Amino acid sequence: MVLFLWIFVLSLTGFVAKSNGSEVIGVSEGSDVILPCSIKESVVQQLFDWRKDGEKMKEVFMYNAGLHYNNGLRDQDDQFRGRVSHFPDQMKFGNASIRINNTKITDSGDYTCDFPHINGGMTFNISLFVDPVFKDRSGEISGSVPKPSVTIFDVTDSGVQLKCEVQGAFPKPELRWKDSDGNILDAEEAEISERDGRYHITLQTTVTSTTTTSFQCVVQQKDLNHETASTITVSEKLFVSSCSKVTTEGVLIGIGLGVLPTAFAALLLAFKFIRISWIRGTKKNKEDEPEPMKSLRSDNSNI
Ligand SMILES: *[C@@H]1O[C@H](CO)[C@@H](O)[C@H](O)[C@H]1NC(C)=O
Repeated sequence: MVLFLWIFVLSLTGFVAKSNGSEVIGVSEGSDVILPCSIKESVVQQLFDWRKDGEKMKEVFMYNAGLHYNNGLRDQDDQFRGRVSHFPDQMKFGNASIRINNTKITDSGDYTCDFPHINGGMTFNISLFVDPVFKDRSGEISGSVPKPSVTIFDVTDSGVQLKCEVQGAFPKPELRWKDSDGNILDAEEAEISERDGRYHITLQTTVTSTTTTSFQCVVQQKDLNHETASTITVSEKLFVSSCSKVTTEGVLIGIGLGVLPTAFAALLLAFKFIRISWIRGTKKNKEDEPEPMKSLRSDNSNI
């Protein structure tokens, strides 16, 4: 049911429809929305209370004969603080609608507008769907699924590590690495974090020299029937020299190969110097000699 509604809403952003006596409103993330609620008599001296579903009903906006959350009434939920207002000049017409500014994905859900003192209690139901908006780096709106970014994360003895990253996706997508033949590759466990109802996911895989050098990260949101992918081509040279480590941020193997011998020579020189002064300062002891050799080796492999 929820799934169905989502698909429905995503195809008709900004619509308002009536269903089962409750109003359904769709809006794009970040825009403002008016949740309607009105009765036939003035609400100026009335009590009305807007709440949102959840594990515990959240206090969205309460008005009590002139007092409300924006002028002293307490207990408004943090999620809505500073974002909800009513329409004072409309109240004499029975209008208890509220406006929510800068809507967030997490504002989606079922709202109730209650008049506890009218006719022994009256309740109106309004459902809100906030449709996610994705922006690319230039700030352009780019469809409803963010494209993943794919990078070479590291080059190790075991192969080339690829990283796929998707930011701010909703609903939660699934990430997969594939080779150019469409085979799904073994990957590490995905790292998932959530903020404001949006998911940031990274998925790493290690590829070794195969017949293909092109790899694809596929992002799938099954509920929405959406799929998007980004492809990365790994230079064959990286597989050949995957024993020398390189980081993604534009550090070339050439530099790495240049730095390694220099660092090694410097270490060797330093070691020799220390050893000479040690031999000079103390009696020669052959059993101690392997010790500094060992530490030199491990230093070098950490470069
Ligand atoms: C209530 O007030 C809002 C804001 O002015 C308006 O958009 C809405 O149409 C009004 N509702 C009714 C039933 O008059």
